[in-house]
Amino acid sequence: MLTVSNLCASYGAIQAVRGVSLTVRAGALCVLLGANGAGKSTTLRSIAGLHRPVQGSIRLGEAEISRLPTHRVVRSGLALVPEGRMVVAPLSVEENLVLSGFAGRGGEASEIERVYALFPRLKERRAQKAGLLSGGEQQMLAIGRALMTKPQMMVLDEPSMGLAPSIVDLVFEAIVALHGQGQSILLVEQNAAIALSVADYGYVMKRGEVVMEGPPEALRDNPEVLEAYLS
Ligand SMILES: Nc1ncnc2c1ncn2[C@@H]1O[C@H](COP(=O)(O)OP(=O)(O)OP(=O)(O)O)[C@@H](O)[C@H]1O
Ligand SMILES: [Mg+2]
Repeated sequence: MLTVSNLCASYGAIQAVRGVSLTVRAGALCVLLGANGAGKSTTLRSIAGLHRPVQGSIRLGEAEISRLPTHRVVRSGLALVPEGRMVVAPLSVEENLVLSGFAGRGGEASEIERVYALFPRLKERRAQKAGLLSGGEQQMLAIGRALMTKPQMMVLDEPSMGLAPSIVDLVFEAIVALHGQGQSILLVEQNAAIALSVADYGYVMKRGEVVMEGPPEALRDNPEVLEAYLS
């Protein structure tokens, strides 16, 4: 379980995240929605140890992780699939996966097979340089890299960004499959319709704050959710 309490994060004078609290239960697929600049990525980057919060607590299970460097956050069981994928372009698909395995708690061949079972296309391209993959394949590889660390909690920042609709469907099918395997997931998305169709709980951020939360049915038809996207 991931518990974020009263998280505040800034860039100089810009208060990007102002008192965010959220919980992702073990096995849940939780979505964090919000318009451009709402503070979603800053929240995720703070959770993953890539941005030092000004204030607040971030707990993974019982462990406080808010002051840990990223490599220790990963080792404690939390993996971020960052905005913009961040694969290692000159290395092959398989080298990217093996490398990520070393960062985590696993690294065994069985994890690679798990990734290839989820994304057969990556297995076909295993010797291909990551930089030569399509955007969708790079997103699959970014998810695969996170899985190689055997995360207790997986955190994804806008995996649908810039992808063709058919590829978005493939990526979401994989997210649903992982959820079905019991993987705990926190997902940031701007595409509210698709995110709420797969999530079992949701939060809406606006200008650095959580303005609404609830089960997807409650958020889906709420006019304020639409409003939060338009402002
Ligand atoms: N590196 C940075 N330096 C200064 N300000 C930043 C930086 N990154 C983000 N911000 C500001 O912090 C606020 C929150 O940004 P953040 O990237 O967390 O939002 P977001 O919800 O992820 O938006 P998007 O949907 O565009 O990805 C915005 O006002 C943004 O301009
Ligand atoms: Mg963002």
